[in-house]
Amino acid sequence: MSTLSAQPVEDLLLLTGRMAVVTGAAMGIGRAIAGRLAEAGAAVVLADLDGEAAMQAAGELSSKGREALAVQADVAHDDDVAALFDAALAWRPALHILVNNAGIFPATPVLEMTAFEYDRVQNVNLRGAFLCSRQAGRIMRHQGAGGSIINITSIDALHPSGVGLAHYDASKHGLWGFTKNLALELAPHGIRVNAIAPGAIDTPGVADMATISDIAADEFLQAFTARVPLHRIGDPDDIARMALVLASDASSYMTGSQVVVDGGYLLT
Ligand SMILES: NC(=O)c1ccc[n+]([C@@H]2O[C@H](COP(=O)([O-])OP(=O)(O)OC[C@H]3O[C@@H](n4cnc5c(N)ncnc54)[C@H](O)[C@@H]3O)[C@@H](O)[C@H]2O)c1
Repeated sequence: MSTLSAQPVEDLLLLTGRMAVVTGAAMGIGRAIAGRLAEAGAAVVLADLDGEAAMQAAGELSSKGREALAVQADVAHDDDVAALFDAALAWRPALHILVNNAGIFPATPVLEMTAFEYDRVQNVNLRGAFLCSRQAGRIMRHQGAGGSIINITSIDALHPSGVGLAHYDASKHGLWGFTKNLALELAPHGIRVNAIAPGAIDTPGVADMATISDIAADEFLQAFTARVPLHRIGDPDDIARMALVLASDASSYMTGSQVVVDGGYLLT
C-alpha cells in the first residue's frame, strides 16, 4: 500500500515547499493554473512572452500573499528557456513542477497559410514544450526527487474543432505523442508526464481569435456552446483545478495520461 493512502484528503493537494514553472502564465489558462498552484503553496514562476503582463499577474498573486516570480521568455528560443530555468533556480533551490501551457492558435486555412505561420505554431506549441521539458527534466533528474510535467494539449489533439487550425492540430497531436514517449523516458526517475486536453475555454486568446470561415470569435463560441453537453464554455479555472491534481500527490500513479476537460464536447 502506498504511504499516500494514509495522507489526509486535505493534504493531498498541498504543494508547500515546491516550485512550479508555468509558461504562458500572464493570462488565460496559464494564469489560472499559476493561481491555483500558488494557492496550494507552491512558489510559482510565471513565464511569458509578454513580460509586462507576467509582472502584473505575478504582482496580483504576491499581493494575496502567494510566492510568485515573473520571467519574460519566448519558449521557442533555447536561450530564453535556459535563462528562464536559471532564474527559477536562482529564486528557489529546487524545481518540482513544469506546466507547458504557452500556445498560439491563429486560424488560417492551409491553402492560405505561409510556411512562416506554420513554423511559428510548431515552434511555440511543440518545440517550446520540448525545450522546457528537456531543461526541467534534466534538473529534476539531477535533483533525484521526481517531479510532474503537465502539457496543455487540446481536444484538437484528438479531433479537429474547426477549419483553419491544421497547423495547430498538427502541433497538439504532436504534443500528445511527445507526452506519452517522454512519460516512458522519465518514469525511471519518478518524473510523471501527463497532458490536459481542454475544450473551448473563455480566454483572451479565444476572444482575440481571428475570424474562422468569416464567423466572429464570439459567434463561434456561441455556436460551440450549443454543441457542449454541459452547455457552457469552459472557465480557465476548470483547467487549473485539473492541473492542480496532476501537479500534486493526488495523481501519484498517473503518467502518460491525457485528461479531457471539455464539458463532454468530444462525446457529441
Ligand atoms: N482557450 C481555449 O479554448 C483552449 C482550448 C484548448 C487548448 N488550449 C491551449 O491552452 C493554452 C493556453 O491557451 P489560452 O486560451 O489561455 O491562450 P491565451 O492567448 O489567452 O494566453 C496565452 C499566453 O501565452 C503567452 N505566449 C504566447 N506565445 C508565447 C511564447 N512563445 N512564449 C511564452 N509565452 C507565450 C501569451 O503571451 C499569453 O499570455 C494553449 O496551449 C492553447 O493551445 C486553449
